[in-house]
Amino acid sequence: MRVTQEPLLRKFWYCVMPMSALADKPIGMKLLGEPIVLWKDASGAPRAVKDRCLHRTAKLSLGTVEDGNIVCPYHGWAFDGGGACVKVPQDVVEKPHPFGVAGYRCVERYNHVWVALEEPFHDIPVIPEFGAPGYRQVIEFCDDWNCAPLRIMENAFDNAHFAFVHKGSFGDTDPIPPPFTLDEMEDGFVMRTEVPVRNPEGMRDAIGMTTERTVRRTANRFFVPFFRTGKITYPNGLENILCTAATPMDEARTRFVQWVIRNDTEEQVPSEKVIAFDKRVSEEDKLILESTDENVPLDASEGRELHMTCDRPGMMMRVKIRELLRPRPGQSSAA
Ligand code: FES
Ligand code: CO
Repeated sequence: MRVTQEPLLRKFWYCVMPMSALADKPIGMKLLGEPIVLWKDASGAPRAVKDRCLHRTAKLSLGTVEDGNIVCPYHGWAFDGGGACVKVPQDVVEKPHPFGVAGYRCVERYNHVWVALEEPFHDIPVIPEFGAPGYRQVIEFCDDWNCAPLRIMENAFDNAHFAFVHKGSFGDTDPIPPPFTLDEMEDGFVMRTEVPVRNPEGMRDAIGMTTERTVRRTANRFFVPFFRTGKITYPNGLENILCTAATPMDEARTRFVQWVIRNDTEEQVPSEKVIAFDKRVSEEDKLILESTDENVPLDASEGRELHMTCDRPGMMMRVKIRELLRPRPGQSSAA
């Protein structure tokens, strides 16, 4: 799969950055190969339009925000949050209809900015614990990785890599992961299992436990195409829900956005300890994932990769995405 060659991938919401990253200045990035510019309008709401001026193609992201509109740095044309050109300081020989640049759906959810390039098939995934009494959010990462988004998603459901990739942090020594169940849903699936892990110093701090080993009870929910919520429950009652977006920027570049939702308090475990431990773990993953091929085969019959029995979650992802992108005649593509 080449993500920029799959037009139906444009029909999903993608998490692009924390709201806190959007200040007074516009920010440019690529989403599925498309240059987009993000900024906050006069009401403080995030906005996204194509990052290419109508006049001489300059990047609007090099411009400024004035009265909630984005102003091109080259000759000062201004565009509103929907992309309509609202001001031309000079004159224009011929005005087309509509007169503007492409505007995209852009909203704030979970203190993050989400963008859909085209009418999305599904709403943004629901995270019931977000904002619920007793739960807090810790915003962790927004980093660009040189790998395919599907590699990040599959890895989040791959418990066979702990003994190898995470042997320096929490990985136990048994290379065979414990059994798991998979329950399919219309827009993804949930994987449930119990995983014994080591509990090294930094992790003990991050989960507020003192034992050398522990068991993670996990309910890991995958949402097509590239989002997951991984709920881990520890024996001390701590729930740690890892919310991970793998947002496709370009063919081989993916934005790894992650926050956690937890049912403890800042006084019990400071955010910086949570972030420090997860940073260590995600750096271990990043090193390996950046060594993988970005063109992930969606069809097992392509034969380019071999599989283990415990790769079933990743295989199910591939099937779900394949069905979505290559609907059979008469089948609705969002089903
Ligand atoms: Fe944007 Fe001229 S290129 S106003
Ligand atoms: Co990992």
